[in-house]
Amino acid sequence: MNIPQWPIGNERELELLKEVLNSNQWGGYSEFVGRFEEAFAAFQHCTYGVAAANGTVTLEIALQAAGVGPGDEVIVPGISFISTASAVSRVGATPVFVDIEPYSFNMDPDRAAAAISPKTKAILVVHFGGPLADMDRLMALASERNIILIEDAAHAHGSEWSGRRAGSMGVAGSFSFQNSKVMTSGEGGIVVTRDADFAERTRSLANQGRRTGQGWFTHYTLAANYRLSAWQAAVLLAQLERLPEQIRQRNHNAALLRKELAEIDGITFQQIPPQVNANSYYLLLGRIDKDKLGMTRNEFHKGVTEAGIPCTPFYPHPLYGNPIYQQGGCRVEPCPVSEACILDAFWLPHRVLMGDEETTHEIAAAIKEVVAHKVA
Ligand SMILES: Cc1ncc(COP(=O)(O)O)c(C=O)c1O
Repeated sequence: MNIPQWPIGNERELELLKEVLNSNQWGGYSEFVGRFEEAFAAFQHCTYGVAAANGTVTLEIALQAAGVGPGDEVIVPGISFISTASAVSRVGATPVFVDIEPYSFNMDPDRAAAAISPKTKAILVVHFGGPLADMDRLMALASERNIILIEDAAHAHGSEWSGRRAGSMGVAGSFSFQNSKVMTSGEGGIVVTRDADFAERTRSLANQGRRTGQGWFTHYTLAANYRLSAWQAAVLLAQLERLPEQIRQRNHNAALLRKELAEIDGITFQQIPPQVNANSYYLLLGRIDKDKLGMTRNEFHKGVTEAGIPCTPFYPHPLYGNPIYQQGGCRVEPCPVSEACILDAFWLPHRVLMGDEETTHEIAAAIKEVVAHKVA
């Protein structure tokens, strides 16, 4: 099966990397970083971009720039990568874990509303796997209750909710460019926002507490150096040029695959709400009903992997099940859906959706074969 490897780069990256090589701007805030920040912020329907070392520190500096700190609670989903919660803890605030919806895999706005306390300062919503969380309800909730909404859009480069791109609806959006993401420089991240003051505070936090237009050796706040290098920005400029066509291709193949597998009783793929008028597939997520399918998620995962299709059996714990949060330092609301997903969900990485149509048919046929033979 001809499933492409990831990441993909070509002569365009080389060309831009040569430009960096021939410049004297390999670090600092180079022209390349500025070009990338501007282009990516515009792509996400934002005005400002602050590029940084990875999508973990971008969450931390976005929370800090929003004024989140000790004594505050931040509502996060029970299911995400650790950074969504650890960034909250690292700025001194307390993560409050709430459940996700059964088939969107995204934060349940009713659960978020029920978890609000007088200490709630922010909601950190994740757009899990690509499709956006219910932004109509979360934006309404945040504004009614005077809570800051921040988007962890590490999975959602190019995804839209009612024509608005990820990162443009909260006070800020945080993206990752780590190796597996749909655009990558190996490591990297960015905060996007439409608020000039927020952008300036974020940049200062990424840049040793400096202020724009002030001296290189004058530091106003306690901060660190989280800058992105010009090499990474050059690669990201090339990756961004290619992204729209790749999103189109993944959507085409995902539609084919989902159609061919629709006849299987017992696999439910991630629901994509109608408001998600553009989805950038990072993961193709699904849940197994073992009684209907006649096999468990683990058996399904083993069969699919043995058939040569990359597949991950979801996370081994909800976020609060990680040893770090078993020691406390968080508030956990009931999360039955998150806990069920640990046992019955899986994902296929986006490169599974990047082959040609023939490869997509082969993948569908191989999955049907696994299910038909109930092989473990
Ligand atoms: C939802 C989510 N948020 C944040 C991150 C952190 O990004 P990074 O790996 O660039 O630090 C990830 C990473 O993979 C992620 O999946």
